[in-house]
Amino acid sequence: MNFTNDDAEKLLKIIKARRDVRGNRFISKAIEDEKLNMILEAGINAPSVGYSQPWKFVIIKDKTIKNEILQNFEGENSKAKKIFTKRELYKNLKLEGIMEAPINIAVLYEPKEEAVLGMTSMNKMGEYSVVCAVQNMWLMARALNIGIGWVSILDEVKVLKSLNAKKNSQLIAYLCVGYVDEFYKESELKTLGWEREKLLEDVLATSYADK
Ligand SMILES: Cc1cc2nc3c(=O)[nH]c(=O)nc-3n(C[C@H](O)[C@H](O)[C@H](O)COP(=O)(O)O)c2cc1C
Repeated sequence: MNFTNDDAEKLLKIIKARRDVRGNRFISKAIEDEKLNMILEAGINAPSVGYSQPWKFVIIKDKTIKNEILQNFEGENSKAKKIFTKRELYKNLKLEGIMEAPINIAVLYEPKEEAVLGMTSMNKMGEYSVVCAVQNMWLMARALNIGIGWVSILDEVKVLKSLNAKKNSQLIAYLCVGYVDEFYKESELKTLGWEREKLLEDVLATSYADK
């Protein structure tokens, strides 16, 4: 299958328009099953080390579980606030959308018992494969005008317990998924001045070994 330049430009447009969405932007409109399936299908079509496909997607709609995860977030975020006391802005940031998003998806890594092709030297490749799935989901959601917010200020062990996850599973991403009232044009943390944007010239290095 050959794609056109037009397709490539559209893909770049979607990549550039993807945003992390927090609770202040989610609306309550339900996500249609076929759209959720497209997001999940994008996830399972990600590359994975040794074709291990080590992901598991836990769909969470139940308010009690969501609330448990929110309490988990609150606990972890109060610790984070103490770390960022010198940066006033932190305590005012909205950094999750657990209750506001109609669906939460926990993306887990389930390691294989046996050796995995490609993972014999670098043992984090399984986790990285699951991150590839998350990015696919994030982009597909954006193409469907659905927002995703990644929440990582969580106690992983407690989340796995709340989800009754299989032993040895790891939490890679906790995603809040829903329609939004608007997508910001640029990263909110850039707009608020938390971090500056790195341009291509800031991150390009031909070779550190070059003299
Ligand atoms: C691994 C990872 C973890 C993240 N965790 C959080 C989080 O806990 N809370 C939050 O508000 N945003 C989180 N984000 C979103 C980032 O803050 C966001 O991607 C970044 O500021 C760039 O903005 P954009 O995604 O809107 O372009 C996370 C993103 C990644 C990739």
